[in-house]
Amino acid sequence: MQGTTFRKYALVAWIMQALIVVSGAAVRLTEAGLGCEDWPTCNDEQVLPEWQLHGLIEFGNRLISGVVALSAVAVLVAAYRRRPRRPDLIGYAWAVVGGTVAQVVLGGITVLADLHPIVVSVHFLVSMGLLWAAQVLWYRAGPGRDRDQNPDPDRVSERAAGLESQAGRATAAEPTGPRWEQLLVRIQLSLATLVLLSGTVVTGSGPNSGDARAERLGFDLETVARVHSFFVWCLVASVVALAVRLGRNRSSGPPAASEDTRFTIVAWLLVAVVAQGAVGYTQFAIGVPPLLVELHIAGAIIVWSLAILLHLHQSDTDPAIPHRTGESASDAADGHQPGRAEDPVAGNGTELDRRNEPAGR
Ligand code: HEM
Repeated sequence: MQGTTFRKYALVAWIMQALIVVSGAAVRLTEAGLGCEDWPTCNDEQVLPEWQLHGLIEFGNRLISGVVALSAVAVLVAAYRRRPRRPDLIGYAWAVVGGTVAQVVLGGITVLADLHPIVVSVHFLVSMGLLWAAQVLWYRAGPGRDRDQNPDPDRVSERAAGLESQAGRATAAEPTGPRWEQLLVRIQLSLATLVLLSGTVVTGSGPNSGDARAERLGFDLETVARVHSFFVWCLVASVVALAVRLGRNRSSGPPAASEDTRFTIVAWLLVAVVAQGAVGYTQFAIGVPPLLVELHIAGAIIVWSLAILLHLHQSDTDPAIPHRTGESASDAADGHQPGRAEDPVAGNGTELDRRNEPAGR
């Protein structure tokens, strides 16, 4: 199987994982959660639900889970059939399958635990992990990434020497720039994680946790919403700081392709966070109506995916490599321009193609 075909499988797996989060939320928001009281059958007497809305929504969600599972298995088979075969892609594909199996079991526990908010939160957060794994698969299967999977040791050490000398020059020209950027990207991803975590606590304390009969976490809704929005404001600050940093780089000369792509991702992330924040405040002010909450959950998927994308993209650029100036020894030897190799997002250039990347990044 070709790399481009494999990437489509990874994309479908990501879309399905996103879809199940949205459809799962619809189950909760329409209070259909206990439309089927048992699992895997709908209730003690029936495999299928009665012809009534709640049962059908709950059962429909279970069917979508089936398609999600199929897409996960398909991406795993595709990872084995892909040429060249890549252990990192196979590893992430197994993570997608393993996580999906865990979700099927957790889905069952959620119903058996009468939609207890802690189980519901874990179910949601595992889905966020699955989105991450599917996105890493898609990203790492991007164009030009099959090179350097079995690197020539001589070329690696030559490259390391080149990067070392570049690091010296970068320090003189731009003491902390790229490292600050890397730190900020890590901070924004950590904050995005905290926003998701705190969001599930807000939900678990409010009217939309499970259904009317389900237990609540028991926190004061206003207090937890304040904590949630505090993390959001910190996230906004980190994204603005990144935008300013990258914007400054752009104004001081033509940016490298990878830097240009990163600026675009940061700009979209900023738009998504602000829009999501507006939805968050509105839904809080008007009593968390289900439709807005559904929109908020879809928005959370977008924010989370952009935060991951930014992190993946940032990980591509070694902090020791100056962004615009100079070429490393290996670049010169290879005839490469820094930041101009294939880019999995823009399709036009990152450093990773020329590096041996450790698994799991
Ligand atoms: C980057 C911005 C934001 C993200 C990514 C985000 C994400 C989330 C997530 C993941 C949930 C839990 C959904 C669930 O468990 O099903 C949630 C719930 C919630 N969020 Fe946010 N949120 C953001 C901004 C805000 C802001 C600024 C507010 C304003 C107070 C807010 C108010 C709420 C409320 C009230 C809930 C509970 C909704 C419910 O009844 O289920 N959010 N958020």
